Amino acid sequence: MGLFDLTGKTAVVTGSTRGIGRAIAEEMARAGARVVVSGRKQEACDAVAAEIRKAGGDAVGIACHIGDKAQVKALVTKARAAFDRIDILVLNAATNPAYGPLAEVSDEAFDKTMAVNVHSQLWLCAQVLPEMAARKDGAIVFIASIGGFRGSRNLGAYAISKAAIMQTARSLAGEWSPHNIRINCVAPGLIRTDFSRALIENKEVLASRLATTPLGRVGEPIDVVGAVILLASDAGRFITGQSIVVDGGTTIAG
Ligand SMILES: NC(=O)c1ccc[n+]([C@@H]2O[C@H](COP(=O)([O-])OP(=O)(O)OC[C@H]3O[C@@H](n4cnc5c(N)ncnc54)[C@H](OP(=O)(O)O)[C@@H]3O)[C@@H](O)[C@H]2O)c1
Repeated sequence: MGLFDLTGKTAVVTGSTRGIGRAIAEEMARAGARVVVSGRKQEACDAVAAEIRKAGGDAVGIACHIGDKAQVKALVTKARAAFDRIDILVLNAATNPAYGPLAEVSDEAFDKTMAVNVHSQLWLCAQVLPEMAARKDGAIVFIASIGGFRGSRNLGAYAISKAAIMQTARSLAGEWSPHNIRINCVAPGLIRTDFSRALIENKEVLASRLATTPLGRVGEPIDVVGAVILLASDAGRFITGQSIVVDGGTTIAG
């Protein structure tokens, strides 16, 4: 078995009906994992799972709004019913309801950002960690953002939530390492998806980002996947509590 091989593993990937999550689900299936495709709409989950099966992989679609605790519990129950176990959890789904100065973000938008991007991720972890601990094996990967490392002029609440998720990974990693569970983050830069469309279509934002990104382009969802598989597989077996930046160099540009 190769270091990056996921044969025999079951992976649950939240927000995997499109964008970065979908690329992760597809490539994890290609690496041998059984994959649970998830998003808020059952039809979309089924369609992506069917595509994966058509390509020779093994996948089921299970709808779940990660901001709803009952749905989070049901996701885990249904995933176990389909595949017996959960070895890998990729916490990718997130929301960004606020754009503008941080001090003007409404209470509602701030609370929703923290509830969906941070608190709900903890619910999912709590559901799955005991099973991983019993097996003395498991990997959790949060999809954070380089926004969590830097000040942000218009995405302040979102950036706070992404900084918080990186801290969540560090704390959980310390707590669960004795059970051989590794918990890490991947922090992407600007990646071409529906989520980032408004930024990419804004000529000024795009020009400024490209000027400060040494690799000189916007990332594609597939660009994020390698780091996620590294952290989820045996290749990353001595890595825990870390955040790997995948941004074409945006955060190191001089
Ligand atoms: N794109 C970027 O530039 C970028 C940069 C840094 C970090 N990220 C992070 O990467 C992750 C994925 O973003 P993306 O760009 O791939 O977004 P995307 O293309 O918009 O895909 C988001 C996925 O999450 C699902 N989703 C949204 N809200 C959900 C909820 N409340 N519960 C469950 N599923 C939900 C969506 O399906 P439904 O709408 O059908 O539920 C979809 O499958 C996010 O954590 C984001 O913060 C993105």
